[in-house]
Amino acid sequence: MSQNIIVEREGQVGWIIINRPDQLNALNRNTISELNKALSDFREDPTIGVVCITGSGEKSFVAGADIKEFAEYTVAEGGALALHGQQRLFDFIEQMNKPVIAVVNGFALGGGLELAMACHIRIASSNARMGLPEVSLGVIPGYGGTQRLPLLVGRGRANQLIFTGEMIGAEQAKEWGLVNTVVEPTELKSSVLSLASKILKNSPNAIDKAIQSVNAGFDSRQNGYDVEIQSFASCFGTREFILGTQAFLKKEKANFRG
Ligand code: COA
Repeated sequence: MSQNIIVEREGQVGWIIINRPDQLNALNRNTISELNKALSDFREDPTIGVVCITGSGEKSFVAGADIKEFAEYTVAEGGALALHGQQRLFDFIEQMNKPVIAVVNGFALGGGLELAMACHIRIASSNARMGLPEVSLGVIPGYGGTQRLPLLVGRGRANQLIFTGEMIGAEQAKEWGLVNTVVEPTELKSSVLSLASKILKNSPNAIDKAIQSVNAGFDSRQNGYDVEIQSFASCFGTREFILGTQAFLKKEKANFRG
């Protein structure tokens, strides 16, 4: 039974709503465990093709790791917090077998921005504010922020955001490539569902392989081109490839999820 998140299914879209609005949806350890469980369930559920993560309420996506929880931590506990979080949530999302969309509906700070950055796509409402304020607390981003932010916005802009701890608004985040799209808060859900419906028309296996190939290019332990060749080849043996190519040849649209 989840206490800190709400899990919903809307057709083939799985929703995870982080539900601690009075704490601006700050991520404590229990929330991370619940998120891991919900994501694992969606991962194994063939009826779900896209997963969306958002925050409860109108003010905040996630305002960071729970400062109240870690304020008294030792060096060892701090290390365990980052390791546990990265493995169970942030890397887990990045390596999901289906697209995970961050629906950034307000503050995305610290661990909140790191959560959004671990997702494959970010859609923000126009009132969203993003930043990595950890240095103002005497700590640095520990959930992958120093690694993923430079990949998305470039090293200079990442350094600026991390060193100043300042927030940027949704439009600037879009200009910097930190979010894909900015929409009015009232249009956030319909925009996300419209994007999801486009993804859901395509081969689930091919999308999974595309995620793994893109990820491999950012993983120094792998050769992205080799992974792409192997993934490309593996598609040829699938029912979805036959469905997709045969439908094209008959001038029809393949129905991969029928
Ligand atoms: N961890 C724990 N609690 C948090 C939190 C976090 N990261 N962010 C907000 N909260 C809590 C506040 O402590 C407050 O709880 P309280 O009512 O029990 O005191 C509640 O959420 C509301 O926040 P508040 O600060 O009163 O709202 P605000 O509108 O004045 O300010 C923020 C909003 C986001 C600017 C401010 O809450 C903030 O700076 N949060 C911390 C952001 C941060 O440093 N994140 C990185 C953590 S590593």
